[in-house]
Amino acid sequence: MLNKSSANMELKVKLTNKYALVTGASIGIGADFSRQLAAMGCNLVLVSRSEDKLQALADVIKATYPVNARVIAMDLGEPGAGELLFHKLTEAGVRIDILVNNAGLGMYGEFSGQSLEQIRKMLRLNIDTLTDLTHLFLPSMLERRYGMIIQVGSLASFMPGPLYAAYSASKAYVLSLGESLNRELKGTGVTCTVVCPGVTATSFFDAAGQNNRYTLYQRLVIMQPADVASIGLDAALKGKPSVLTGFINKLQVFVLRFTPRVVASFMAYQGMKLR
Ligand SMILES: NC(=O)c1ccc[n+]([C@@H]2O[C@H](COP(=O)([O-])OP(=O)(O)OC[C@H]3O[C@@H](n4cnc5c(N)ncnc54)[C@H](OP(=O)(O)O)[C@@H]3O)[C@@H](O)[C@H]2O)c1
Repeated sequence: MLNKSSANMELKVKLTNKYALVTGASIGIGADFSRQLAAMGCNLVLVSRSEDKLQALADVIKATYPVNARVIAMDLGEPGAGELLFHKLTEAGVRIDILVNNAGLGMYGEFSGQSLEQIRKMLRLNIDTLTDLTHLFLPSMLERRYGMIIQVGSLASFMPGPLYAAYSASKAYVLSLGESLNRELKGTGVTCTVVCPGVTATSFFDAAGQNNRYTLYQRLVIMQPADVASIGLDAALKGKPSVLTGFINKLQVFVLRFTPRVVASFMAYQGMKLR
C-alpha cells in the first residue's frame, strides 16, 4: 500500500537505479524506510533475522514499485555480522549507494538485573555492526562521490537514560559518530545523517521487555513509524547532520540544553517508570 508519506516522498525525489541497504527492515521504522525508498525508485536489500517477514515485504514492494528487492536473513547481533553482510553483497556484485543502519534493540530495566550476554549482543547490534557497515561501505561511496548514510539514533542519544541505561549509551555513540562523520564527509558527495526518533509505535518496546505496556509519557508523545521514516529521509536527502522527529521531541532536547544532566536523568527515570 502506498501511504501518504510514501506518496509525498515519491513526488520529492527519484532514486532510480540506486541501491539501498536497510537493516532491521522486516517491521517498524525500517519497513517504512524501505517502502518510502522504493517509492522513490530505489532498489533494496532488506536485512533482519525474519526471512518470512522480509520476503513478504519484498513481494509487496516489487508488486507496487518498479524496483528490485533482495532479502538477506541474518542476525546482525553476532560477532562479525557486518563483515559477513558486506562480503555477501560484494560477492553478489551489489553496489550500495544508500546505507540505512536502522536495526536496533532496546533493553528495559535496571542495568544490574540485566543479562550481560544480552547487553553485549545489544551493543554488538547497536554499535559494532553499525560501525562496521559504515566503515566497509564508505570507501566505494567516496570513490564514486555518491552516497547517503542514515544512522538511526534516538531521543535517548541526547540524555542519560535510566531504565534504558546501556541502550541510551549506545545511541549516544550513534549520534556522536554520525554527526562527526557528517562534518568529515563535507564536499565528498557522501552524507551521513542521524535520525533520532522519540517514542514510535513499533514493536520496539515489546522487544525491549516492556511487554507492550507504555508509560504515561510514552502514550502522550507517540509517533507513527511512517512519519519518522519520512522525516528521516527528508533530512538525509538534505544532508543534515541529525534530525529529531516531531515537535515535542525537539522541544525536549531544546529544554535539555538548559537542564543539569542530573535533573535530566531524574526526569527520564520518572518518565520511563511503568505505573
Ligand atoms: N520505536 C521507538 O520508540 C524508537 C525510538 C527511538 C529509536 N528507535 C530506533 O529505531 C530503530 C528501529 O526500531 P523500531 O522502533 O522500528 O523497532 P522494531 O519494530 O522492533 O524493529 C526492529 C528491527 O530490527 C530488527 N532486528 C532486531 N534485532 C536484530 C538482529 N539481531 N539482527 C538483525 N535485525 C535485527 C528487527 O527484525 P527481526 O526481528 O526480524 O530481526 C526489526 O526489523 C532502532 O534502531 C531503535 O533503536 C526506536
